[in-house]
Amino acid sequence: MESGEIHGSEKKRRRRGFILAAAAVVLFLVILAVVLGVTLSGERKREEFKDTFMERCQKFKGYNCQHIWELFQQAYVNKDPCEVPPNAYDTLIAAAPMEPPCNTLLFWSKTKDVVQDFARKNKCFQAVEETLLGSVLNSLTWCGKKDSNETLTTGCPGWLECENNPPRSFWRRLSTAFGDAACGNATAMLNGSITTPFDSQSIFASVEVKRFKSPRVKNLNVVLVIQKNSVTNCSNPSLQNLVTVLDKGISYRCFEVPRSQIEECGDDPEKPCGPCW
Ligand SMILES: *[C@@H]1O[C@H](CO)[C@@H](O)[C@H](O)[C@H]1NC(C)=O
Ligand SMILES: *[C@@H]1O[C@H](CO)[C@@H](O)[C@H](O)[C@H]1NC(C)=O
Ligand SMILES: *[C@@H]1O[C@H](CO)[C@@H](O)[C@H](O)[C@H]1NC(C)=O
Ligand SMILES: *[C@@H]1O[C@H](CO)[C@@H](O)[C@H](O)[C@H]1NC(C)=O
Repeated sequence: MESGEIHGSEKKRRRRGFILAAAAVVLFLVILAVVLGVTLSGERKREEFKDTFMERCQKFKGYNCQHIWELFQQAYVNKDPCEVPPNAYDTLIAAAPMEPPCNTLLFWSKTKDVVQDFARKNKCFQAVEETLLGSVLNSLTWCGKKDSNETLTTGCPGWLECENNPPRSFWRRLSTAFGDAACGNATAMLNGSITTPFDSQSIFASVEVKRFKSPRVKNLNVVLVIQKNSVTNCSNPSLQNLVTVLDKGISYRCFEVPRSQIEECGDDPEKPCGPCW
């Protein structure tokens, strides 16, 4: 009886010891899985970024995408993600020159909704997102950090957090090149639902328009996208500002065009390039 009791409590103690040990092992495994999972998912995201880059790049024939990827990385890898100025991308831009045909360049500000769809379907116009580098990096986020050769896709500074962050500098630099490529008729889709369609803070106003040079660029055609809630027309004061900053010799026209008309115009890919407005 007595020895049975001692035996019983010994058994209980052993069982408790066993449960504690098992719990410790389980806890260890859980922590290991979490750490491993985080590391692997970071790794996978980085690989996904490069895969996306290469996949999109390879849609353009005649370019060495591996070389373009390496030049791209050189712009931001091993640098403070707030200290990547636009000219860090100079060699990258030079390796993928933009040569869209004259009269086809489509600029836009605050009209992404309608432009992306329109420019994808309508081969008569090309937005910067259809150029090689623009399409490769469209909607992506990236940065590097000091003392590391990695490309990060999370924990990067936001667009407004610091001026010289890698995506923002990239888009400014690419837009400069796109503005330089404009010739003949340049078209700009601006938003008629806001009070300042030509916003001095926008990339269109602060970068692209400044690169338009006469006589290479002959006309600027502004397409003011009109919707039911539109508050603006072609006599908007900000558009008067646009006319005054335009290089002398470039003529200017403004069209008020309903959004539905723009959508229809992009609808038929077989249609020869003709006026949509
Ligand atoms: C114009 O701006 C408004 C307000 O920001 C937005 O809701 C609308 O989608 C924009 N229009 C286009 C064509 O992107
Ligand atoms: C980054 O550095 C590590 C170690 O120095 C090296 O093994 C790896 O190949 C490098 N990765 C890239 C993308 O350069
Ligand atoms: C250029 O734009 C004007 C409207 O400003 C238009 O009449 C003309 O047909 C366009 N030319 C070309 C080549 O697209
Ligand atoms: C343009 O809008 C302004 C202000 O809303 C208005 O006063 C003017 O009559 C409009 N002009 C035209 C041609 O519709």
